[in-house]
Amino acid sequence: MSSRIIAVAPFDLVIFGGAGDLAFRKILPALYQRHRDGQIPPVSRVIGVSRRAMGDERYRAAAREALGRYVGEADRDAAVVETFLKRLHFLSIDAEADAGWDDLARLLKPDRERIRAFYLAVSPELYGIIAAKLGAMGLVRSDTRVIMEKPIGHDLRSAMAVNDAVGRVFDESQIYRIDHYLGKETVQNLMALRFGNALFEPLWNDAHVDHVQITVAESIGVEGRGGYYERAGALRDMVQNHLLQLLCLVAMEPPTYMDADCVRDEKLKVLRALKPIDASNAAGAIVRGQYRAGAKAVFPAYTQEVNNADSKTETFIALKAEISNWRWAGVPFYIRTGKRMPVRVSEIVINFRAIPHSIFAVGAGAIEANQLVLRLQPDEGVMLWLMIKDPGPGGMRLRYVPLDMSFAEAFGARSPDAYERLILDVIRGNQTLFMRRDEVEAAWQWIDPIAEAWQQSGEAPKPYPAGTWGPSAAVALIERDGRTWHEDGG
Ligand code: BG6
Repeated sequence: MSSRIIAVAPFDLVIFGGAGDLAFRKILPALYQRHRDGQIPPVSRVIGVSRRAMGDERYRAAAREALGRYVGEADRDAAVVETFLKRLHFLSIDAEADAGWDDLARLLKPDRERIRAFYLAVSPELYGIIAAKLGAMGLVRSDTRVIMEKPIGHDLRSAMAVNDAVGRVFDESQIYRIDHYLGKETVQNLMALRFGNALFEPLWNDAHVDHVQITVAESIGVEGRGGYYERAGALRDMVQNHLLQLLCLVAMEPPTYMDADCVRDEKLKVLRALKPIDASNAAGAIVRGQYRAGAKAVFPAYTQEVNNADSKTETFIALKAEISNWRWAGVPFYIRTGKRMPVRVSEIVINFRAIPHSIFAVGAGAIEANQLVLRLQPDEGVMLWLMIKDPGPGGMRLRYVPLDMSFAEAFGARSPDAYERLILDVIRGNQTLFMRRDEVEAAWQWIDPIAEAWQQSGEAPKPYPAGTWGPSAAVALIERDGRTWHEDGG
């Protein structure tokens, strides 16, 4: 069946942080793409809000420039860009003061027919303040939605405080906590593959899977976000959310239905089954790294980028997670993520067990264990690595080959950015790909003891040259168990 574009109901989307990096880089380009496909009804409006003083026209000019930069040339059509820009409005509001709120109320009030969504793309300290103000102004109706960007808190306590504050105004059914990894095409495909085929599920357990690897490697550094990153580090920036969410989708039990609570209930069980890592075992289970200047100093060191020679913030993590339940006990999940790696690659690799006995002569060649590789980016696709007979005459020689399903090639379709799907899911009222409060808090519950263990030890992260795969200890972490990192990813 080819893809169908179904228009969503008319909406007003108010973006707090509307003139910020995320809005220009991701949110507006995503909305433009959906507009271009005719999925957004003509009356829908996008209202950028920020402390800055600028009118609609200046905002539209800034958005035009951003679309020029962040939307691929093939997708940019000058006339369509102009019709999209007409949807944009701008209001100057200081979240912590009173000015500007009446203007927002005036702009929103007249129309009760539209779905109303508030996107909080600002610092999380402001989430509660903005929610309270929206409540006090009477702008929150029972069908109003709020979208929260990560990070939600810095640890369990602060996450609970943010959730409490927003929860005083919005019901959980109105709250959409974004983890944009859940909107990625291959992540969706993981679910299609697992639950749309009878083939994999019987093998999806400790009897047939040797181990799982999840790699999210980035070639970029901290890109001017040093202030935030210094407080977060790779643990809070990537592991607490994106990597744990991927792990949950691989490891969860089949949900009864593909609906929000069924899926989130299953993910939550995985988070709660994660074996704790704390001061007693962190040294053997986790490697932290920080990039130094690269070879020939092409890239500066992290400490130079953030202008803090003493920084102990990690820009790389490799860890071995274990899930204490019947399906996964004894199957390690090796996770790694880092900035300034040699390439940008995100992938999940399911490594199946080796065959129990070979019937082939030694000369037939080595028999590799099967691997299912789900590549999230770049070149999204799924590959199943199998042994086959080397074609042609010459006796039985074996060859390890991928059954390749690269989506771009197979379907020739542009793969939508995660934000396109997620923002429209908010309008559609579908929370399946958003994190529920208890999930976020369970993730922090697992992360906090790790962060505490590091703080207690006072140890600095291990250095690695920018443009490499992290400290050698990360290789040792997996090789100690007689395994190696998947080579496409390292
Ligand atoms: C964000 C992190 O959530 O994800 C960034 O804060 C990171 O540090 C980004 O660069 C990676 O997202 P993607 O989609 O480019 O892999």
